[in-house]
Amino acid sequence: MLDQVRAIAAEAHRHLAQATTEQELELWRTRFLGRKGALNELLRGLGTLPADQRPVVGAEANRLKRELEAAFEQRREALVARARAAALEADRVDITLPGRPPVIGTLHPTTQMIRRITEIFASLGFDIVTGPEVEWDYYNFEALNIPPGHPARDQWDTFWITPEDSERPMLLRTHTSPMQVRIMEKQKPPVRVVVPGRVYRYEATDATHESVFHQFEGLAVDEGVTMADLNGTIYTFARRMFGERRRIRFRCDFFPFVEPGVDVAVDCWVCEGAGCTLCRRSGWIEVMGAGMVHPRVLEYAGIDPRRYTGFAFGGGVERFSMLLHRIDDIRLFYGNDIRFLRQFVA
Ligand code: PHE
Repeated sequence: MLDQVRAIAAEAHRHLAQATTEQELELWRTRFLGRKGALNELLRGLGTLPADQRPVVGAEANRLKRELEAAFEQRREALVARARAAALEADRVDITLPGRPPVIGTLHPTTQMIRRITEIFASLGFDIVTGPEVEWDYYNFEALNIPPGHPARDQWDTFWITPEDSERPMLLRTHTSPMQVRIMEKQKPPVRVVVPGRVYRYEATDATHESVFHQFEGLAVDEGVTMADLNGTIYTFARRMFGERRRIRFRCDFFPFVEPGVDVAVDCWVCEGAGCTLCRRSGWIEVMGAGMVHPRVLEYAGIDPRRYTGFAFGGGVERFSMLLHRIDDIRLFYGNDIRFLRQFVA
């Protein structure tokens, strides 16, 4: 029977060397070390041996059992190590290859322009604040002296959050002007703020119209504020924004929340006023709406119009970028074309 033990040993070692997967290893274990495996079958036969041979064969069989268990462990570790080495090899990184240059993003042109605008006003003593894009009809229209049914509403058609005729109608703001009232409700004069932000209009889009764009609003309220202050502020801003030689022009215009109201133009920085394609031969470029805050708006905000006066102005952020960079289609700003955006590396 000792021959049988040796035969099992030889066979087991040979098969173990051929096992290359976990599954094959498991099959091997069942076959040689399992409850019904070769070794146990043999041990079960011990009883048929003469009594003096039993301890010899038994001891030899048990020694083989420990030997095979050790060989099994060794083989398994070898296979795991081999698999790990193969995985590492497959994952190998060639650190001598040239790297991929990291793509560094830039601020969106609109963000850049908002910063440029607000930095100028900040240097003139204006605070920069922002307000809600979802707005009450009250602030967007009513408190700005545009009651329900007022024809000026046609100019600012919007997206309604609630039905237009509900008790407290809510909408997407059509301009940044509602912040005039919100600020004056909270802060008593002197007030000097600039409000950049996103606004919405319900209209067909084309090269010069988007349903989402940005404005900046300015507001200054104090005792004795006059149109001369408005003029000086806009003049300083225009020269910083469009060039030191700029002149400005105020012409009468109508906005329900200012009186008097003006449209502000600067002389064309391309042709110096002679007339070119940018200014459409007029020599002037309209850049803002402005005016003296209407007394009724002051009243809505709880400020006494007999004591205080103020001026307000508002302009389009994308319009500034379009004029300064000669961009001919406003839809480019939010078309997400990386070739467009990449041109505005700050
Ligand atoms: N809110 C006006 C618009 O959207 C601009 C404006 C602001 C006009 C402040 C006068 C004063 O067209």
